[in-house]
Amino acid sequence: MPRGKKKPERKAKKPTLMGERQLGRVLVTGASAGIGAELAREFAKHGHHLVLVARSEDKLMALAGELNAAHDTDALVIAADLSLPEGPKSVVETLQEHGVEIDILVNNAGIIDVGPFADTDAEKFQQMVSLNIAALTAFTSYLLPHMLERRFGRILNVASLAAFQPIPSMAVYAASKAYVLSLTESLSEELRGTGVRVTALCPGLTDTNMVAEVKAASETAQSMPSFLISDPKQVAAQAYRATMSGQTILVPGLPNQVAAAWAQVNPRWLVRTVTGFWARQADWMKAK
Ligand SMILES: NC(=O)c1ccc[n+]([C@@H]2O[C@H](COP(=O)([O-])OP(=O)(O)OC[C@H]3O[C@@H](n4cnc5c(N)ncnc54)[C@H](OP(=O)(O)O)[C@@H]3O)[C@@H](O)[C@H]2O)c1
Repeated sequence: MPRGKKKPERKAKKPTLMGERQLGRVLVTGASAGIGAELAREFAKHGHHLVLVARSEDKLMALAGELNAAHDTDALVIAADLSLPEGPKSVVETLQEHGVEIDILVNNAGIIDVGPFADTDAEKFQQMVSLNIAALTAFTSYLLPHMLERRFGRILNVASLAAFQPIPSMAVYAASKAYVLSLTESLSEELRGTGVRVTALCPGLTDTNMVAEVKAASETAQSMPSFLISDPKQVAAQAYRATMSGQTILVPGLPNQVAAAWAQVNPRWLVRTVTGFWARQADWMKAK
């Protein structure tokens, strides 16, 4: 398992949060870009060791080198396609072979598809469900029992503001994020008193490649006001605090909090009628 370059002189270890154990080692999926890379930077800044997972090994190695040089961290890299059925298991087996224990799991990797359901390939949906739902569930299932044995653990599941309502034109994506939010809330109650806490991060639009790609193909997306688009660094900083304090749901940013609250206090028929009206105006509903 490759490591990013170390800086030669190491600083003294920071005080521990977990008694005898050092600050927990964090596994971040989708760490090569966007919110995942910022989450990795945030955990490294606070002195955690890391395992960085995504497909782009070169980007992961560059990030690991950056983190090891800037902070007193040991960042390991595992390149894997997590949309493949054996992806998460192969990562966990590599960790076991090297005796690496994970105290904090960040299930961040995810993809989106925008446009009419009927115009999208079944393979694309399969990939989205495999990554956004199956990989996240598999990592949680593999790593949670070890956290329970040690009576400490944190799981950060990256959902979305899309989790709070159906979104015509992003139907499978919104449904996958509703799954993530529901799973997180169930586990949060199941795990009370165990020392393991689970957090759902529900960002609205955030300035990453995901949004850049949607914007590149859509004038509707380009016309969205910039105050609605969050800075991934700020999202990651808030997510770190929520994860470590064991908060169950985090919706970063006031406009997103208002939108999430609106979707929860109104009847479902009204919420889907409004999102349906909005989606039908968007240019991505016209053609792919
Ligand atoms: N940006 C937003 O507006 C927004 C809003 C709400 C929620 N989110 C959620 O936030 C999470 C991160 O999104 P982002 O905006 O940061 O996206 P991004 O910039 O596109 O980054 C996605 C990350 O996932 C990895 N990834 C994609 N497919 C993968 C696969 N098959 N196997 C392993 N890793 C894979 C990518 O790395 P490789 O390509 O190297 O594999 C990359 O590191 C997602 O779950 C997304 O749904 C984003």
